[in-house]
Amino acid sequence: LITGVTADAPLLNQYRGSRTADGAAAKPQRRPVWFMRQAGRSLPEYRKLREGTTMLDSCLNPEMASEITLQPVRRHDVDAAIFFSDIVIPLRLAGVDVEIQPGVGPVLGTPVRSAADVAALPRLEEEAFAPITEAVQRTVAELGSTPLIGFAGAPFTLAAYMVEGRPSRDHLGPRTMMHADPQTWDALASWAADVSGRFMRAQLMAGASAAQLFDSWAGSLGRADYAAHVQKHSAAAFSHVADLGTPLVHFGTGTGEILDLMKNAGDSALALAGRENDSTVVGVDYRLNLAEATARVGAETPLQGNIDPALLSAPWDVLEDHVREVIGDGAGAAGHVLNLGHGVPPETDPEVLTRVVELIHSIDY
Ligand code: CP3
Repeated sequence: LITGVTADAPLLNQYRGSRTADGAAAKPQRRPVWFMRQAGRSLPEYRKLREGTTMLDSCLNPEMASEITLQPVRRHDVDAAIFFSDIVIPLRLAGVDVEIQPGVGPVLGTPVRSAADVAALPRLEEEAFAPITEAVQRTVAELGSTPLIGFAGAPFTLAAYMVEGRPSRDHLGPRTMMHADPQTWDALASWAADVSGRFMRAQLMAGASAAQLFDSWAGSLGRADYAAHVQKHSAAAFSHVADLGTPLVHFGTGTGEILDLMKNAGDSALALAGRENDSTVVGVDYRLNLAEATARVGAETPLQGNIDPALLSAPWDVLEDHVREVIGDGAGAAGHVLNLGHGVPPETDPEVLTRVVELIHSIDY
């Protein structure tokens, strides 16, 4: 079952390893591309619309969230929209005191550091998702044949903000907790997996066609810690949506050493849902060459990535050579969706992004 759009959208074909529903190889009409953080501060129309509204309030205003989601699709002709929201929205919907401070990031009124803090976390009621459902429905109605990607923060990244109470570089708080007090860590990560998984499910039920789990800070974990304390929680988040039949994407930064474990987190949820023949799509950051990523996760794994965001500000011929190299390196994977290796930097010239999309669509295969 694919909600929202037809199965032959180029993006969904690549996410499915270029296979159609009946298993036949399908040549997509064009090479698909979208950009993480394509909606946001690089766009003047975004900055204008956001004036006077806080980040989280704009996410919870269905009309505004939908309009912001659509802006980059209209401007750049990308092959997917990503729902405009934030990984901390499920916390806000549950009633946790959280804000996004401009130039800083998510800040909690009360960090979550003890067993008692975790036990006191509020329950996220299903009704709270109403503004998300409405925003997704409005967006899908406008998008026509362009798929909408839903997303959520992975339990580790979400819990990292909850324990630290604000952005941090080394994520010492959550990494200490998983060893010093593993029971409290498991309870917190389970809470996070539940709200993230249900946030993704709400988006897919309202018409989104794929879901991406962002474990942006998982690169701070060694393999043993990821395997013992994190992987099962990310699998649990994916399990909330694996039965819906849509592609699942798993992305993090600095995750070259744990890429196979991240794939396994998604694949175990797919297998539990009877989808042993489907592979999680692995999002690769700019540090790891895509051919090397395929060597690590297997040729049956569709990849997403991994244009270096730094090169968006380099001379055009340097950027063009890099984009062509990324396409060449991704050719050995079962499917490949072009994207950046992390989000669009706010200072990016949006005309460069449009030109990158035109370049990618002009290259034949
Ligand atoms: O286009 C898209 O990719 C969709 C929108 C999106 C946002 N946040 C909007 C946003 C997505 C997918 C996210 C996810 C998110 N939020 C992540 C995972 C992705 C990643 O970048 O690794 C993380 C870690 C967060 C937490 C967060 N929210 C941070 C670190 C910040 C930046 C704070 C700052 O001002 O530097 C935010 C705020 C945020 N989320 C903005 C946007 C457009 C900027 C808010 C603004 O316009 O002022």
